[in-house]
Amino acid sequence: MKDRVRRLFAEINPKADRLLIGNATDPHLDQTFFYLFDVAGGLFEGSWLVATPDGALTVLSSPLEEESARQAAKADRDVEVHVWASREERERLLTDLVPPTSTVALNYRELTHEQFLQLEKTFSRAKWVDASNAVRKTRQIKDASEVERLERAGAIGSTVAKKIPGFLRRGVTELEVAAEIEHAMNREGASGRSFATIVGFGPASAEPHYAPGDRPLAPGSSIVCDFGAFYRRYASDITRSFRFGPRDAELQKVHETVLEAQRAALAVLKPGVPAKDVHLAAQKVVDASPWKGRFTHGLGHSVGLAVHDGFAMNPTIDEPIEVGMTITVEPGIYLPGRGGVRIEDDVVVTPNGYRFLTTAPREYLEVSA
Ligand code: GLY
Ligand code: MN
Ligand code: MN
Repeated sequence: MKDRVRRLFAEINPKADRLLIGNATDPHLDQTFFYLFDVAGGLFEGSWLVATPDGALTVLSSPLEEESARQAAKADRDVEVHVWASREERERLLTDLVPPTSTVALNYRELTHEQFLQLEKTFSRAKWVDASNAVRKTRQIKDASEVERLERAGAIGSTVAKKIPGFLRRGVTELEVAAEIEHAMNREGASGRSFATIVGFGPASAEPHYAPGDRPLAPGSSIVCDFGAFYRRYASDITRSFRFGPRDAELQKVHETVLEAQRAALAVLKPGVPAKDVHLAAQKVVDASPWKGRFTHGLGHSVGLAVHDGFAMNPTIDEPIEVGMTITVEPGIYLPGRGGVRIEDDVVVTPNGYRFLTTAPREYLEVSA
């Protein structure tokens, strides 16, 4: 991971002598820890990374993951692992590795206030630099090994998306369908879900970040299922929408319009295009339809070690699309009280455009009630 450490340091401005990445208690774990230290399992609560501009990395590992940490260090000769037995020992190791007057880069976006207060006490003469933009920019461009994992995570999502019509029957609840989806992902090799699964029936499908409940599936419902897998720490994020018969001509047209909006966005998605232009291509399709104004969120976001990995595509973002970004493209139309449709896919940006990481069928699909 020497290359990742060096690339990250190159983005840190002003320059720093050390980069410190720390994990607090789950869920306050900085995924940058796992970006720089490729370790298979474990939480690594209370663990720290100390990196230097030449690419060297020292891991101060919690004893609960000692085996995993040592295994991972064997595979990467630029990494040294120390396992601390107590908080005091961890502090001592940190002060051995960071000279007292260093300029230290920290990921302000993830570090907790408590961690920072402790650092200020330990290093009262240090200068602090915010590395969060450098972290975001570096993590944004995926290398081949990351794309491979994202592809596997996407394939799990696609395989499970194809199974969903088989989970839909009269009376099944949103929570039961969510459980089926998550079970199926694990059976396909996921280490878990990459975020809380969304399954919304009928009016609930019109709320983009709905949490499933015990609503039973009734004939004449729109259905939105938004879910994703973790595969070797990398996330997928896929949404498929269905109709539980009988047909509703308006909601069928809504589905076709969302699909057209996604295709319009993908048609302009290539390196150099400002993110907002990709969003606006989809929005234009919706705004030219009878459902103008009902596409109520940004078109997508980067996906990586976190499902929302730092980059956003919405009408305010001028930043250009770059080769190696992995992003979601997820237009939706939401009719409050009636139902909604969202179609979400993950893509990797290539020199000429993009390649799908998720591939399950997107077309209107009616399951008979
Ligand atoms: N899974 C939430 C989203 O699509 O952003
Ligand atoms: Mn999603
Ligand atoms: Mn998403």
